[in-house]
Amino acid sequence: MIVGGGGREHTLAWKIARSPLVERLYCAPGNAGIAAVARCLELAAGDIEGLLQFALDEKIDLVVVGPEAPLAAGLADRFRGAGLKVFGPGAEGARLESSKVWSKEWMKRWGIPTADFAVFDHYEAARRHLERRYREGPVVVKADGLAAGKGVVVAPDSAAAAKALEQIMVERVHGAAGAQVLLEDCLFGEELSVLALTDGESLLMLPSAQDHKAVGEGDRGPNTGGMGAYAPAPLLTGELSREVERAVFRPFLAGLAAEGIDYRGVIYAGLMIGRREINLLEFNVRFGDPETQALLPLMRSDLLPLLAATAEGELGRVLAEEAPRWSEGAAACVVLASGGYPGPYETGKPIRGLEQGGLEFDCGAGEGLALFHAGTAFAENGAVVTAGGRVLGVTGWAAGLRRALGIAYTAAGQIEFAGRYYRRDIGHRALQR
Ligand code: AMP
Ligand code: GLY
Repeated sequence: MIVGGGGREHTLAWKIARSPLVERLYCAPGNAGIAAVARCLELAAGDIEGLLQFALDEKIDLVVVGPEAPLAAGLADRFRGAGLKVFGPGAEGARLESSKVWSKEWMKRWGIPTADFAVFDHYEAARRHLERRYREGPVVVKADGLAAGKGVVVAPDSAAAAKALEQIMVERVHGAAGAQVLLEDCLFGEELSVLALTDGESLLMLPSAQDHKAVGEGDRGPNTGGMGAYAPAPLLTGELSREVERAVFRPFLAGLAAEGIDYRGVIYAGLMIGRREINLLEFNVRFGDPETQALLPLMRSDLLPLLAATAEGELGRVLAEEAPRWSEGAAACVVLASGGYPGPYETGKPIRGLEQGGLEFDCGAGEGLALFHAGTAFAENGAVVTAGGRVLGVTGWAAGLRRALGIAYTAAGQIEFAGRYYRRDIGHRALQR
């Protein structure tokens, strides 16, 4: 059973459904695309007791949790307590994502490189710190709690930062998530997402990916959940990969062990790669969205045994038997969003062009295309309509990134709905490189 109903969960469902080990696959709540590969349940991802009852009744063998909110709410603890196998950390491990303050203090404690920061509970004190330390130049303002990727403002100057502070702390645009705020030094460089499966002891790093968080081309405008991604990122050379493991993942595992945190799932390191140093911007305790849409099509092996082994604390043994195989090529995901996102947007718009090529086709020669549904639903007449800010993740894969992008963009142009918006420059950094 997969918990969630976005593009990441569709990609997981698509990949898991191909495993010969699967008898039945459920997804709660799923979406119009997931319905093609799994049985969708009328249960919200946050309905922990309802999900648990279903899982016990149906004797679910493995539960894979997509989003952070149910993990932060203790879904994995509750399920494990009832004897079920879960891929995803408990609430304690999930704090690495659900509280930015806790996470940053944890990084400091375990010697993981990250930007200098200060924590504030009061608006006035935060304002004074802004004026003292960030009179000139950029500063990053972060709401402590979960805000769907929108709780961070990279402010070009202290005036913009003050405005963000007021919105988060006084107007409470992200609700209780803004009760505490971090003010953080701005880092420069290129961002990179490196994900790893871990059962707290063994670690399997996945190929790197690069997300495009800003809504506008050239990385301008407010941050979103992610407007596109590609993998692998040529930025991550073998040497840099070893450095990420040494500076981030090893101390992460040491910190888990020392604090007795039982962590079984995926750990996502959001990195800033500077000219001379690497820093960790954030930990996420789940698969990236849309990074997963670009990563999993590159995986040649069965994902399911790895997820199950992680949930069972047996990842080391399974990896010793056979290392997973990855395609030598590249994949790119272009997100089609509703006009207005990440601000207010309309839903219920019919989507045309999904039929062409169906959900997925293999173009041969290791090339392919998949339309991963993120925010879609069935209207009463059975038509597929928009139901979220990010609507579809159009993913192409091929021997090289340029061709993968070509496949994704050709398909993206053929899918239409009122207000459709997408960035035309996904992958621009890798292409320049
Ligand atoms: P976070 O949720 O903490 O990763 O922040 C979301 C996004 O804000 C990151 O992916 C970066 O684009 C940006 N960001 C966060 N912290 C910093 C920082 N210290 N310096 C520059 N950009 C940052
Ligand atoms: N794509 C960014 C995230 O999953 O947090």
